[in-house]
Amino acid sequence: MSTRIFPPHLDLPPLAGMRGTVRLPGSKSISNRTLLLAALAEGETEIRDLLDSDDTRRMLEALAVLGVEVNGDAASGVVRVRGCGGLFPNGEGKLFLGNAGTAFRPLTAALAVAGGRFELSGVPRMHERPIGDLVTALNAMGAGIEYLGTPGFPPLRLTGGAVKVSGPVRVRGDVSSQFLTALLLALPMTRDGALVEVEGELISKPYIDITLNLMERFGVAVERDGWASFRIPSGTRYKTPGVIAVEGDASGASYFLAAGGIGGGPVRVEGVGERSIQGDVRFADALESLGIQVARGDNWIEARAPADGRIRAFDLDLNHIPDAAMTLAVVALFADGPCRLANIASWRVKETDRIAAMAAELRKVGAGVEEGDDFLVVTPPTRWQGAAIETYDDHRMAMCLSLATRGGVPLRILDPGCVAKTFPEYFEALASVSQPEGVPVVAIDGPGASGKGTVARMVADALGFRYLDSGSIYRVAALAAIRNGVALDDEAEIAALGAHLDVVCEGESVLLSGEDVSEAIRTEEVSQAASRIAALPALREALMWRQRAFLGRPGLVAEGRDMGSVVFPQAGLKVYLTASVEERAARRHKQLIDKGMRASLAGLLQDLSERDERDSRRSVAPLGKAEGARELDSTGLSPQAACERIVGWFREQVCR
Ligand code: DC
Repeated sequence: MSTRIFPPHLDLPPLAGMRGTVRLPGSKSISNRTLLLAALAEGETEIRDLLDSDDTRRMLEALAVLGVEVNGDAASGVVRVRGCGGLFPNGEGKLFLGNAGTAFRPLTAALAVAGGRFELSGVPRMHERPIGDLVTALNAMGAGIEYLGTPGFPPLRLTGGAVKVSGPVRVRGDVSSQFLTALLLALPMTRDGALVEVEGELISKPYIDITLNLMERFGVAVERDGWASFRIPSGTRYKTPGVIAVEGDASGASYFLAAGGIGGGPVRVEGVGERSIQGDVRFADALESLGIQVARGDNWIEARAPADGRIRAFDLDLNHIPDAAMTLAVVALFADGPCRLANIASWRVKETDRIAAMAAELRKVGAGVEEGDDFLVVTPPTRWQGAAIETYDDHRMAMCLSLATRGGVPLRILDPGCVAKTFPEYFEALASVSQPEGVPVVAIDGPGASGKGTVARMVADALGFRYLDSGSIYRVAALAAIRNGVALDDEAEIAALGAHLDVVCEGESVLLSGEDVSEAIRTEEVSQAASRIAALPALREALMWRQRAFLGRPGLVAEGRDMGSVVFPQAGLKVYLTASVEERAARRHKQLIDKGMRASLAGLLQDLSERDERDSRRSVAPLGKAEGARELDSTGLSPQAACERIVGWFREQVCR
């Protein structure tokens, strides 16, 4: 599976328009339920479009501990699970389930019913999330589950007590619907049939629909009386449907639909549509009720701004879409008055106390927030403020707050890696539909010694723009790798180092952890090392956001390999600066002689020809003219003349 490396923070630019199409990753809720059902079923199940994220990995790891055979991996989108018909090959073991509620609750019930001695634990936050109502229901049937820490909370020990259904199984429904989901998924294994009665008002009902729908796909039809009781017929057993495809994540869709609504749009999500089994598609109905225009197809949904541009203030009961409701808290920032999000008490027992967390972070950007036990009232900011946003190890906090950049302020998202829980590619997907607010970018690339560095800096000065010498960032990473003794082909280590690099560019100086390394990064050893590590995709990805953070008013001149194609694809002017290899060799020769160094013109000519050849053939970010780039052959041109030509092109374009 792919392991992504995230920097300690991301600096997101203010966003103006949002437009485009996003293919959603698989739904977490469906992925983990499907994995468990496939493991419990008779026969082999091929699962397609499985989500590849932290929570699904925890479930896959748990199945491995239980001895369930799983082939393929989620990164490829297809796994095959050999079902064990309810009898796990391993009858004991320790399961670490991270912060994955969709793994912890259903596995607790499934293992209690299957029998065996297990310890189930998670991250500290998982140990603060309640599970007492589920344990009480299972123990009432003879499971004998013990608390290893605080009563009512994980970690748990399953002692292998025999579960027997005699009479109705009662479970509370007003803390987490996952308790009911867990019982429904597990009880068919008793073969005795069971009547499950819900005590209290059931919350998050659409998640129960997902559970029932998937159970039916695996051959178990549950009879129900509204939301109060559920009957599992006797003699049932799970049978594989053969092949099953996981729908796109409807909660993940909410960020992009909101982006379309607040950012002009249209933004389309693919992977969920009208026929989705996920309750969170109802988020689109909520958007519509605010005036946002929504269109739907079988497998897609699209949102765009209200026809009159006004997002209506709202007062909505959001109990049925607790996860997507968080996105509405951010949409509220753009509404025409105070907005009330009601009946959201379950937020308090999720990945973090989401009511408290949301209130704190929305206030940072300038909103007025009133916080109650089970509601929030959000008043849109009168003055937006840039801020550093805490994410509380909660993927949804990071994804929601990233949309607040639409308020015209830059935001720093701390610990952005928490999105890996359900949507590892979130920030790339967001960038792909984002148009940074009106900040012009000039991207300049070209072969070695084409003078692009000198010319780019002159262009930045002439326009009064910021300047990014992206090569120096790769050079600093190379220097840090050499100093820390990291092997230059150790992609994961190099990328981790790149992600945590403390680099500051001040004028013509480059600082690494406060030390001026402007000279040190220009040595031959560092040049060679930079060229090698620049071919590592994981490093390029780790450095991408660092480079994007240079974007700012009044504009940016960005120089380097993939500036116009990957890092700033929105650049209004892209220039490919070339010169004949002979002229480039002569320029480099003069540079070296002027510095008092010895140099051979023939040697430089050969070096440059070889480098051109190597660079244009490399598979990652090869040297070449970006799509839409204008080529400027500077053979016979002074740097001043090349600069004037580029500035002329820029002004032409602005005036057009
Ligand atoms: O432009 P430069 O020589 O300072 O760049 C140092 C190395 O980094 C060089 O091998 C090219 C590589 N590089 C890159 O791959 N992508 C960039 N955007 C900038 C530089």
